[in-house]
Amino acid sequence: MAEPMNVHVIDHPLIQHKLTIMRMKETGTKDFRELLEEISMLMAYEITRDFPLKEVEIETPICRCKEKMLAGKKVGVVPILRAGLGMLNGVVNMIPAARVGHVGMYRDPKTLKPVEYYCKLPGDVAERTLIVVDPMLATGGSSSAALSLLKEKGAKHIILMCLVAAPEGVRVINHDHPDVPLYVAAIDEKLNDKGYIVPGLGDAGDRIFGTL
Ligand code: URA
Repeated sequence: MAEPMNVHVIDHPLIQHKLTIMRMKETGTKDFRELLEEISMLMAYEITRDFPLKEVEIETPICRCKEKMLAGKKVGVVPILRAGLGMLNGVVNMIPAARVGHVGMYRDPKTLKPVEYYCKLPGDVAERTLIVVDPMLATGGSSSAALSLLKEKGAKHIILMCLVAAPEGVRVINHDHPDVPLYVAAIDEKLNDKGYIVPGLGDAGDRIFGTL
Protein backbone atom coordinates (compact mmCIF):
# COMPACT_ATOMS: atom_id res chain seq x y z
CA MET A 1 0.00 0.00 0.00
CA ALA A 2 1.33 3.48 -0.82
CA GLU A 3 1.84 5.28 2.48
CA PRO A 4 -0.76 8.03 3.02
CA MET A 5 0.36 11.55 3.91
CA ASN A 6 0.22 11.78 7.66
CA VAL A 7 1.23 8.33 8.90
CA HIS A 8 4.65 7.35 10.19
CA VAL A 9 5.54 3.68 10.50
CA ILE A 10 8.13 3.22 13.24
CA ASP A 11 9.67 0.01 11.98
CA HIS A 12 12.72 -0.16 14.24
CA PRO A 13 14.03 -3.77 14.43
CA LEU A 14 13.43 -3.98 18.20
CA ILE A 15 9.81 -2.90 17.73
CA GLN A 16 9.22 -5.34 14.87
CA HIS A 17 10.75 -8.22 16.86
CA LYS A 18 8.65 -7.51 19.95
CA LEU A 19 5.50 -7.01 17.88
CA THR A 20 5.96 -10.39 16.21
CA ILE A 21 6.07 -12.06 19.65
CA MET A 22 2.90 -10.17 20.63
CA ARG A 23 1.15 -11.44 17.51
CA MET A 24 1.84 -15.12 18.39
CA LYS A 25 -1.28 -16.72 19.81
CA GLU A 26 0.72 -18.61 22.44
CA THR A 27 2.10 -15.39 23.99
CA GLY A 28 0.47 -15.04 27.42
CA THR A 29 -0.89 -11.99 29.23
CA LYS A 30 2.26 -11.20 31.24
CA ASP A 31 4.57 -11.18 28.22
CA PHE A 32 1.97 -9.42 26.04
CA ARG A 33 1.62 -6.62 28.59
CA GLU A 34 5.38 -6.23 29.07
CA LEU A 35 6.07 -6.20 25.34
CA LEU A 36 3.37 -3.57 24.74
CA GLU A 37 4.90 -1.38 27.45
CA GLU A 38 8.39 -1.80 25.95
CA ILE A 39 7.18 -0.97 22.43
CA SER A 40 5.30 2.05 23.77
CA MET A 41 8.54 3.30 25.34
CA LEU A 42 10.41 2.86 22.06
CA MET A 43 7.64 4.57 20.10
CA ALA A 44 7.54 7.46 22.58
CA TYR A 45 11.30 7.86 22.07
CA GLU A 46 10.74 8.28 18.31
CA ILE A 47 7.67 10.50 18.61
CA THR A 48 9.49 12.97 20.85
CA ARG A 49 12.48 13.25 18.51
CA ASP A 50 11.66 16.86 17.54
CA PHE A 51 10.72 18.12 21.01
CA PRO A 52 12.38 21.52 21.57
CA LEU A 53 15.49 21.87 23.71
CA LYS A 54 16.91 24.82 25.59
CA GLU A 55 20.45 25.51 26.67
CA VAL A 56 21.14 25.52 30.40
CA GLU A 57 24.28 26.27 32.33
CA ILE A 58 25.30 23.53 34.76
CA GLU A 59 28.29 22.49 36.77
CA THR A 60 29.77 19.02 36.40
CA PRO A 61 32.33 17.75 38.95
CA ILE A 62 34.92 19.04 36.44
CA CYS A 63 33.75 22.44 35.19
CA ARG A 64 30.85 24.75 34.31
CA CYS A 65 29.34 24.14 30.89
CA LYS A 66 26.27 24.79 28.74
CA GLU A 67 24.18 21.72 27.96
CA LYS A 68 20.70 20.92 26.59
CA MET A 69 17.47 20.13 28.43
CA LEU A 70 13.87 19.81 27.29
CA ALA A 71 12.34 23.27 26.87
CA GLY A 72 9.44 22.48 29.18
CA LYS A 73 6.96 21.30 26.54
CA LYS A 74 3.73 20.33 28.28
CA VAL A 75 2.51 16.84 27.43
CA GLY A 76 -0.65 14.90 28.17
CA VAL A 77 -1.08 11.19 27.53
CA VAL A 78 -4.63 10.06 26.77
CA PRO A 79 -5.33 6.32 26.62
CA ILE A 80 -8.58 5.38 24.91
CA LEU A 81 -10.25 2.89 27.26
CA ARG A 82 -9.74 0.10 27.72
CA ALA A 83 -6.89 -1.21 25.54
CA GLY A 84 -5.11 2.16 25.45
CA LEU A 85 -4.22 1.63 29.13
CA GLY A 86 -1.71 -0.99 27.96
CA MET A 87 0.37 1.73 26.28
CA LEU A 88 0.17 4.31 29.07
CA ASN A 89 3.05 3.26 31.34
CA GLY A 90 5.51 2.97 28.48
CA VAL A 91 4.90 6.57 27.43
CA VAL A 92 4.83 7.90 30.99
CA ASN A 93 8.12 6.10 31.74
CA MET A 94 9.70 8.20 28.99
CA ILE A 95 7.85 11.46 29.84
CA PRO A 96 7.41 11.31 33.62
CA ALA A 97 6.06 14.87 33.90
CA ALA A 98 3.17 14.13 31.52
CA ARG A 99 -0.39 14.53 32.82
CA VAL A 100 -2.83 11.73 32.04
CA GLY A 101 -6.38 12.02 30.71
CA HIS A 102 -8.81 9.19 29.91
CA VAL A 103 -11.40 8.81 27.18
CA GLY A 104 -13.92 5.95 27.04
CA MET A 105 -15.93 5.23 23.91
CA TYR A 106 -18.31 2.38 23.10
CA ARG A 107 -20.09 1.53 19.91
CA ASP A 108 -23.91 1.92 20.07
CA PRO A 109 -25.28 -1.48 18.98
CA LYS A 110 -28.21 0.17 17.14
CA THR A 111 -26.56 3.07 15.34
CA LEU A 112 -23.06 1.48 15.30
CA LYS A 113 -21.79 5.01 16.06
CA PRO A 114 -19.16 5.60 18.78
CA VAL A 115 -20.56 7.10 22.00
CA GLU A 116 -18.51 8.76 24.76
CA TYR A 117 -19.05 7.25 28.21
CA TYR A 118 -16.07 8.76 30.06
CA CYS A 119 -13.84 11.78 29.58
CA LYS A 120 -11.51 13.26 32.18
CA LEU A 121 -8.72 15.51 30.95
CA PRO A 122 -6.10 17.84 32.46
CA GLY A 123 -7.57 21.34 32.89
CA ASP A 124 -4.95 23.00 30.68
CA VAL A 125 -5.59 20.68 27.74
CA ALA A 126 -5.26 23.52 25.19
CA GLU A 127 -1.64 24.15 26.24
CA ARG A 128 -0.53 20.52 26.05
CA THR A 129 0.60 18.27 23.26
CA LEU A 130 -1.68 15.26 23.70
CA ILE A 131 -0.36 11.81 22.86
CA VAL A 132 -3.48 9.69 22.36
CA VAL A 133 -2.78 5.96 22.67
CA ASP A 134 -4.87 3.07 21.36
CA PRO A 135 -3.12 -0.13 20.28
CA MET A 136 -5.45 -1.27 17.49
CA LEU A 137 -6.61 1.17 14.80
CA ALA A 138 -9.27 -0.94 13.08
CA THR A 139 -12.14 0.95 11.38
CA GLY A 140 -10.84 4.18 12.93
CA GLY A 141 -14.38 5.11 14.04
CA SER A 142 -13.84 5.31 17.79
CA SER A 143 -10.34 6.84 17.52
CA SER A 144 -11.65 9.49 15.15
CA ALA A 145 -14.56 10.22 17.51
CA ALA A 146 -12.13 10.44 20.46
CA LEU A 147 -9.96 12.94 18.55
CA SER A 148 -13.07 15.03 17.74
CA LEU A 149 -14.05 14.98 21.41
CA LEU A 150 -10.57 16.13 22.48
CA LYS A 151 -10.71 18.98 19.96
CA GLU A 152 -14.17 19.98 21.31
CA LYS A 153 -12.62 20.11 24.79
CA GLY A 154 -9.97 22.51 23.48
CA ALA A 155 -7.03 20.31 22.45
CA LYS A 156 -4.90 21.99 19.78
CA HIS A 157 -1.91 19.68 19.34
CA ILE A 158 -2.66 15.97 19.14
CA ILE A 159 -0.55 12.97 18.13
CA LEU A 160 -2.20 9.55 17.71
CA MET A 161 -0.02 6.56 18.57
CA CYS A 162 -1.23 3.03 17.72
CA LEU A 163 0.52 -0.31 17.62
CA VAL A 164 -1.14 -1.94 14.61
CA ALA A 165 -3.39 -0.24 12.04
CA ALA A 166 -5.64 -1.47 9.27
CA PRO A 167 -5.39 0.56 6.03
CA GLU A 168 -9.09 1.46 6.50
CA GLY A 169 -8.39 3.04 9.89
CA VAL A 170 -5.41 4.99 8.58
CA ARG A 171 -7.57 6.42 5.79
CA VAL A 172 -10.32 7.45 8.23
CA ILE A 173 -7.91 9.24 10.60
CA ASN A 174 -6.05 10.95 7.75
CA HIS A 175 -9.37 12.05 6.23
CA ASP A 176 -11.12 13.18 9.45
CA HIS A 177 -8.05 14.60 11.20
CA PRO A 178 -5.39 15.57 8.65
CA ASP A 179 -3.78 17.76 11.33
CA VAL A 180 -3.11 14.77 13.63
CA PRO A 181 0.12 12.90 12.92
CA LEU A 182 -0.44 9.16 13.21
CA TYR A 183 2.38 6.90 14.43
CA VAL A 184 2.09 3.13 14.12
CA ALA A 185 4.43 0.15 14.44
CA ALA A 186 2.76 -1.66 11.52
CA ILE A 187 0.06 -1.28 8.89
CA ASP A 188 -1.49 -4.72 8.38
CA GLU A 189 -3.32 -6.13 5.39
CA LYS A 190 -7.02 -5.58 6.07
CA LEU A 191 -10.01 -5.91 8.40
CA ASN A 192 -11.99 -9.14 8.44
CA ASP A 193 -15.79 -9.29 8.47
CA LYS A 194 -15.80 -9.27 12.31
CA GLY A 195 -13.78 -6.05 12.41
CA TYR A 196 -10.49 -7.71 13.45
CA ILE A 197 -7.22 -6.61 11.91
CA VAL A 198 -5.62 -9.31 9.71
CA PRO A 199 -3.12 -10.75 10.59
CA GLY A 200 -3.27 -8.50 13.67
CA LEU A 201 -2.93 -9.96 17.14
CA GLY A 202 -6.54 -10.60 18.17
CA ASP A 203 -8.37 -8.55 20.78
CA ALA A 204 -5.72 -6.36 22.38
CA GLY A 205 -7.83 -5.48 25.44
CA ASP A 206 -8.54 -9.13 26.21
CA ARG A 207 -4.89 -10.07 25.77
CA ILE A 208 -3.68 -7.18 27.99
CA PHE A 209 -6.15 -7.86 30.80
CA GLY A 210 -6.44 -11.64 30.49
CA THR A 211 -10.16 -11.56 29.78
CA LEU A 212 -10.09 -14.03 26.90
N1 URA B 1 -9.52 -4.22 18.29
C1 URA B 1 -8.68 -5.20 18.66
O1 URA B 1 -8.36 -5.34 19.84
N2 URA B 1 -8.19 -6.02 17.70
C2 URA B 1 -8.51 -5.89 16.40
O2 URA B 1 -8.03 -6.66 15.58
C3 URA B 1 -9.40 -4.85 16.03
C4 URA B 1 -9.89 -4.04 17.00
